[in-house]
Amino acid sequence: MSKPPVSRFRPSDHAFAAESLAQIGRGYVVPDRVALITGCSSGIGRELALALHRRGTIVIATARRPESLQELADLGIATEALDVNSQADINRVVHALKAAYGRLDILINNAGYGQMGPLLELDTRALENQFRTNVFAPMALARACVPLMKAEGRGLICNIGSVSGVMPTPFSGAYCASKSALHTLSDVLRLELKPFGIRVMTVQPGAIASEFGRHAEVSLRGLLAPDSWYKRQEDAVRARALESQQNATLASNLARKLVKELLRKRPAAIVRLGNKSRLLPWMARWLPRRFRDWILARRFRLRRVQLKS
Ligand SMILES: NC(=O)c1ccc[n+]([C@@H]2O[C@H](COP(=O)([O-])OP(=O)(O)OC[C@H]3O[C@@H](n4cnc5c(N)ncnc54)[C@H](OP(=O)(O)O)[C@@H]3O)[C@@H](O)[C@H]2O)c1
Repeated sequence: MSKPPVSRFRPSDHAFAAESLAQIGRGYVVPDRVALITGCSSGIGRELALALHRRGTIVIATARRPESLQELADLGIATEALDVNSQADINRVVHALKAAYGRLDILINNAGYGQMGPLLELDTRALENQFRTNVFAPMALARACVPLMKAEGRGLICNIGSVSGVMPTPFSGAYCASKSALHTLSDVLRLELKPFGIRVMTVQPGAIASEFGRHAEVSLRGLLAPDSWYKRQEDAVRARALESQQNATLASNLARKLVKELLRKRPAAIVRLGNKSRLLPWMARWLPRRFRDWILARRFRLRRVQLKS
């Protein structure tokens, strides 16, 4: 059964957006874009909703826990309950959006999490869940939203990937693979949707301050049992889960820069923002593989001698 929405779409959202524009001294402008964002309970999604709203875009901010959207709703942002793994939720939200606005200009597939842990300690269900949320759900949302964009002959799908999808590291294999897959799907979608005027952007953030680290740490529960082959690496595994929160860029900074790109007439295909978002892809591209593996093995305490008991 679908969860009740916090607030229904309001035709007066145009007025809300115009009001907010007037408040920031830009004068009255009829908002010309409608954006749907997933995973707005915290972090990047929440800040993107705020930043786009400030720029006069009609935002439909979604999250699976509707109560987490109350603050956005209080600011006049339309909010809806949406678990990205529920096709029924997706159908309901897209249907309501179509009824209220008749169109969609920007879809931001932001909802996601990092399943951490040594790869072979993850059971098939953990792997499937990671891919369900980070890969299959963005595709399901794109499938549901694209007809609205095609009808207008324009639109933008923005998939939030990760530098982890470019530079994979130990103890985060499931997450890195899911983001790599999302990058590849985005590359293909960009070509397949171009004839219909629909653009596809992949964002590859570096370290961004959010709830990501806390969720990643939770994903380790039940792993690293006393007989785990990686028990001696436990600190390195936990450090990897929390790594995104070290010297992290504020999510609001990322959002401000990304919104500029989203609202461009010809948005970039790949956008890298946040700490290490350029360094890690550079390392992936230019360091000889053997050297890269050596660095990672040292960093994650995976040299043979360290595994001996
Ligand atoms: N933070 C970083 O350093 C970083 C770096 C690269 C890429 N990213 C990517 O950026 C995106 C946003 O992450 P964040 O950093 O802002 O972390 P966050 O604060 O943990 O936000 C993640 C959001 O995704 C939502 N979510 C997870 N599973 C969902 C589901 N099944 N249905 C609906 N929503 C779901 C979470 O909802 P709940 O609150 O209900 O769990 C939350 O709203 C993710 O795709 C992440 O992989 C983050």
